[in-house]
Amino acid sequence: ADQTHCRHFLSLLDLSAEEARGLIARGTELKRMLKSGEDYRPFPNRTLAMIFEKSSTRTRVSFEVGMVQLGGHALFLSPRDTQLGRGEPIEDSARVLSRMVDAVMIRTFDHDIVERFAANSRVPVINGLTDRLHPCQLLADMQTYYEHRGDIRGRRVTWIGDGNNMCHSFMEAAQVFDFELRIACPEGFDPDPDLLAAVQGRCSILRDPQEAAEGADLVVTDVWASMGQEEEQAKREALFAPFQVDEAVMSRTAPDALFMHCLPAHRGEEVAASVIDGPRSVVWDEAENRLHAQKALLEFLLLP
Ligand code: CP
Ligand code: NVA
Repeated sequence: ADQTHCRHFLSLLDLSAEEARGLIARGTELKRMLKSGEDYRPFPNRTLAMIFEKSSTRTRVSFEVGMVQLGGHALFLSPRDTQLGRGEPIEDSARVLSRMVDAVMIRTFDHDIVERFAANSRVPVINGLTDRLHPCQLLADMQTYYEHRGDIRGRRVTWIGDGNNMCHSFMEAAQVFDFELRIACPEGFDPDPDLLAAVQGRCSILRDPQEAAEGADLVVTDVWASMGQEEEQAKREALFAPFQVDEAVMSRTAPDALFMHCLPAHRGEEVAASVIDGPRSVVWDEAENRLHAQKALLEFLLLP
């Protein structure tokens, strides 16, 4: 039957705490190997199909470069020039693609699409961002925290802004990596209440960003209008204005707090230029670690 018995990565909760920590460590090891010029190509002739319903710079380049570095190959597939955009059912596309390629990465609007694809795929499926979750970014972000500050267990992380896909993945990370998450979002932009209930005890919602940042070890934000919400930009700018991560917010944190943003960023909107371009910002390391963390993920899913 065309169904799956393999592991997928649709959510951070698809990993045990031990597996997640193992992946982070492996990402750092693969980074060291790459930088020391070690030849490591365990995937000759292996292929990753990458389906993008939305734009991407980091996700596309990191997966494609990662597959090449591991000795394999990646295919960029857009609904604009495949049958996906002409109404071929997602289930049929999953059955067909998964008989040819070794893994599939998908970026879609509806999270449901990724789940339906995975349910009909013979090979591992990776969530490359949906409206609900962005788990690959969290692998990179957790690796980045570890590389700068060590174990995140028991630390305080403050999320400021929209209760969106990145916020949801930080909530799941709080559970898997065992840290406290304080979420400061405007009323009406809270994260999903069911997820909040599921990770209860670790995540709390506050309305004042400065109060939320009190004693934080890490402050994180993201765009105010995500992909697919472009027409809400003006309305959101007005509502989110008090939620900019600026010097006043950062002055409330622990002295060695870090700042993260998955990028792309809007200076002067969700983050002040002095913060994202300042000494606490590790955004370029986060972006680089997409490559290393996802190579560790591909290894985990593809090697027996
Ligand atoms: N952070 C992130 O996923 O970036 P892209 O949209 O460029 O892939
Ligand atoms: N929340 C953003 C993240 C982009 C990487 C979006 O979904 O557009």
